[in-house]
Amino acid sequence: MSQQKNLKSGSRIRDWFKSVKIFKLRRRHINRSLSLNFNLTGRILHWLMATLILSTMFIGLGMMTSLSSRPWLIDLHIPIGVAILFLCILRFLNRIINPIPALPSDMPKIEKKMAHFMHWVMYAFMLALPITGWGQLSAGGFQAKLSQNIILPSLIDQNPVLYAWLHDIHRGLAWSLFFIVVGHLSIALLHALVIKDGIFSSMTRGKGKIKKETKRPSA
Ligand code: HEM
Ligand code: HEM
Repeated sequence: MSQQKNLKSGSRIRDWFKSVKIFKLRRRHINRSLSLNFNLTGRILHWLMATLILSTMFIGLGMMTSLSSRPWLIDLHIPIGVAILFLCILRFLNRIINPIPALPSDMPKIEKKMAHFMHWVMYAFMLALPITGWGQLSAGGFQAKLSQNIILPSLIDQNPVLYAWLHDIHRGLAWSLFFIVVGHLSIALLHALVIKDGIFSSMTRGKGKIKKETKRPSA
């Protein structure tokens, strides 16, 4: 008798957990389609990281082309690159916790899929670049210095073959990301200046300033 009672209350608790979970998922789905803009944290992180990433790329290019400026450019490249790694983790967490705006309902499915796919590709690059940069320093037996006093631990043991590999991978990733960003920027400007469907403003504006004529879905 008491065993039956226990079983009943156990299944009731399970049902309650299930309904809370479904409710949460539903609420998240509704929020996701209702929100028109990326949240403030997402927007700040996007523009801050865009500035840092483009700066690190040009600093990297300078490091490889000017022998005299190389030491101070490396001292700048490493801390900015490591900051990008931490900001990327923060941005990823913000993105999965908070709803993001839905793409316009009249946008073809394949374009929507491509847009989301490219966003995740950019996340992968934003993570892989600092890791291969840090990894190549460790494999080459160099220190990853953030400042005179702050030196990061080695990621891997010294290994000349791995160093050469990571050096080339880091370079390849940096230039690939550069071309991806040029494409991303061109598409963003196309939406801002020609299509005017609210995609660009979702990354620049707060909730209160959305124009009425935006074609983004209302639900
Ligand atoms: C998103 C972040 C980063 C970007 C966009 C980036 C970009 C670049 C670029 C464009 C180069 C020059 C490649 C070439 O033409 O050969 C480079 C080289 C390099 N980067 Fe990065 N990097 C990033 C993060 C890091 C981090 C976090 C570290 C170290 C902790 C690092 C360490 C290095 C090193 C050691 C070199 C090669 C220097 C040399 O061999 O002379 N990078 N990076
Ligand atoms: C290094 C440079 C950049 C990187 C790595 C980057 C990356 C990203 C990523 C990952 C997203 C998806 C949203 C998110 O998860 O935060 C995004 C969205 C967006 N980005 Fe960028 N971005 C860069 C530069 C730019 C620039 C220069 C512009 C504009 C001129 C721009 C305009 C936009 C817009 C309008 C969106 C929203 C698109 C949508 O709703 O699908 N981005 N960006």
